[in-house]
Amino acid sequence: MKRINGDFFGKSIISVEQFSKKDIEIVFDFALHYKKGIKEGTIYNELSGKILTALFYEPSSRTFGSFVAAMQRLGGGVIPIHGVATTSVVKGESLSDTIKTFASYSDAIVLRHPEEGMPLNASKISNVPIINAGDGVGEHPTQGLLDLFTIKEQLGKLNNLKVALVGDLAHSRTAHSLAKLIALFSKNKLYFIAPPLSPMPEIITREITQKGISCKNFTSINKIIEEVDVLYITRVQKERMSSKLYQKIKNAFKIDNKLANRMKKQALIMSPLPRVGEIDEDVDINPRATYLKYQMRNGMFIRMVLLRLILKR
Ligand code: NCD
Repeated sequence: MKRINGDFFGKSIISVEQFSKKDIEIVFDFALHYKKGIKEGTIYNELSGKILTALFYEPSSRTFGSFVAAMQRLGGGVIPIHGVATTSVVKGESLSDTIKTFASYSDAIVLRHPEEGMPLNASKISNVPIINAGDGVGEHPTQGLLDLFTIKEQLGKLNNLKVALVGDLAHSRTAHSLAKLIALFSKNKLYFIAPPLSPMPEIITREITQKGISCKNFTSINKIIEEVDVLYITRVQKERMSSKLYQKIKNAFKIDNKLANRMKKQALIMSPLPRVGEIDEDVDINPRATYLKYQMRNGMFIRMVLLRLILKR
């Protein structure tokens, strides 16, 4: 896994650990440029002649849709593999052969896979860059970036923040990526609020603590709700656990307006979505809610930047 170090061209994006603060600044500045341009009706064709394969072994709405939109908004083309049920994977083809196949038709592959580590493996055998669009319980680096971008945009800063990650944290890859990104910036405090049966993986907690960022574990939102700047809530990842565990933790957390209104006025409520009951729909019009209003759409701008920087010097 190569570090980016200011040069995205030709590189795979597997984990947020590849990014420096400077890399993130480059991406965010460029994303603001595209955001403004699209708003003004600019038509881009910077990636005309380039083709992206969107190879998704798992369901997806936002990540798939925004990658396809991002590529097309830059004038590029897409091979859309939205679920592998109609591909040779059902005949028993290996990931390695599938990757080599699409690498021979396209200039980059966005890969979502149920097994952690598969994008990294794919990047070792592919002669085109691989972008991790979520690997099992591993990471979701492009989501992490769009979440961080939304925080920067809405709060105007990335340090000195209290960020609560709430939900099924053992299995939430978006929370893993965001936690690591938050830990890059000084004086941040992380609160991990998870059921005892599904805590933030210790390896991530350890990495973050080593960077000098404080992280504390809680089992209830109540204690921290009034002090946090960001409350990032994820769904219970039903498909990644036994039905026994699911039954035990399925209703672990829920945010409604009664709880939301106890938060600071400028605080943010965030979610990678989809939600399945953990955010009351009444919260959508709460001024703190970002998920439908900003977060989702920002994903497209962040992905435009990444594709542009990876595919063209
Ligand atoms: C997330 C994912 O797939 O990890 N969705 C997304 O990409 N926005 C979150 C989830 O499925 O819960």
